[in-house]
Amino acid sequence: MKRLLLIPMVIATLSYAEGYKQVDRILDMQNMAKAMEEIQTGFFYNNLDMVKDGVKVLKETIVNIRPIDSEVNNKDIYEKWINNSLKMTNKIKKKITRKAVDIEDRFKVGDAVQALQAYSKITQQCMKCHIQIRKW
Ligand code: HEC
Repeated sequence: MKRLLLIPMVIATLSYAEGYKQVDRILDMQNMAKAMEEIQTGFFYNNLDMVKDGVKVLKETIVNIRPIDSEVNNKDIYEKWINNSLKMTNKIKKKITRKAVDIEDRFKVGDAVQALQAYSKITQQCMKCHIQIRKW
């Protein structure tokens, strides 16, 4: 009886220890790509609600982005590398969040030029990470 109770507990603990998996990150990435599309469509249709919605999803999702567990657990070889990558990741995340806020603020007051500029800054940040540390 005791053993039967223990098994689900162990499973629950194991899955909790696996905080951020590759499938989670891929889903987050796809959500951010969709959010960027929605923002762009909002620009083209001059639709503030779409822009706002995309900005919201982007801001909520970017906070999740980090190395996945298998990368973090590979301490022997990757510790230094991951530390460097994490510093860069945190910088990029801050920038993306800041620029996302800019998009909404600028677009709201009718400054589409600045909103678009903030948008392209975000694209640059996405690509910066993809080029440099996509293979964490
Ligand atoms: C801190 C690094 C980092 C940042 C910032 C980042 N990405 Fe990614 N991206 C990755 C990594 C790593 C993968 C590979 C995911 C995997 O297979 O584990 C990826 C994969 C993707 C994919 C492919 C997902 C799939 O279906 O395989 C898309 C789309 C994507 N990113 C979009 C974005 C967008 C849009 C942004 C900016 C808003 C962004 N990424 C910012 C690291 C980053």
